[in-house]
Amino acid sequence: MRRTMVAGNWKMHGTRASVAELINGLRHLALPSGADIAVFPPCLHITQVVDGLKGKSIQVGAQNSAVEAMQGALTGEIAPSQLVDAGCSYVLVGHSERRQMMGERDGTLNRKFAAAQACGLIPVLCIGETLEQRESGKTLEVVSRQLGSIIEELGVGAFAKAVIAYEPVWAIGTGLTATPQQAQDVHAAIRAQLAAENSDVAQGVRLLYGGSVKAANAVELFGMPDIDGGLIGGASLNADEFGAICRAAGN
Ligand code: PGA
Repeated sequence: MRRTMVAGNWKMHGTRASVAELINGLRHLALPSGADIAVFPPCLHITQVVDGLKGKSIQVGAQNSAVEAMQGALTGEIAPSQLVDAGCSYVLVGHSERRQMMGERDGTLNRKFAAAQACGLIPVLCIGETLEQRESGKTLEVVSRQLGSIIEELGVGAFAKAVIAYEPVWAIGTGLTATPQQAQDVHAAIRAQLAAENSDVAQGVRLLYGGSVKAANAVELFGMPDIDGGLIGGASLNADEFGAICRAAGN
């Protein structure tokens, strides 16, 4: 049985004061024991969040990390080893905002994924199609290529210690959500692609859905057989809303 997971991606939001307030809200949440919960603050606030959430069963992750595992001469980047040292357990790899706005391509993402795992961080690989790709019937082709890039480079076994987040680009931050069935169809295809290589890995890996998840639609989405939780953007900045989504995944 896969444990569900809810991950809160805070994106480029927060000041020391607003982060302190959010930490306080999170500390007071009643969280389900059946789900793994993690938050992904901006790098600048990771130590504040790690310290602030001590004793609470919420893990911390980063939104991005360097292509090299260990610290070194790479101005402006943060090494996976530094994230581990700061108390992180996870890192997002290939969020669509980074693919689209920072020009991150599969080759770079393969390196980031491998570097993260080399340090014991769990990569959360984000994949998903644009509206144009969906409308031209290319959804499964796009998602399969993004996933296939890691499988080809690192082998399917890399997903024994990773999480995958399916996030249709058209649903991110737009208020548009994939229907539970649309999301389930893609999740099933992702799991089938992995199963063609290794069924144990396919059955074990957690597939999160992301794109305008809120408390109001979480139960239905998380009720689908291949949806093992969610990657939450906007709604994760509100502790009460995030808590309700976590409880939807834990029950
Ligand atoms: P959203 O973002 O929940 O605000 O749509 C999801 C994400 O980008 O991870």
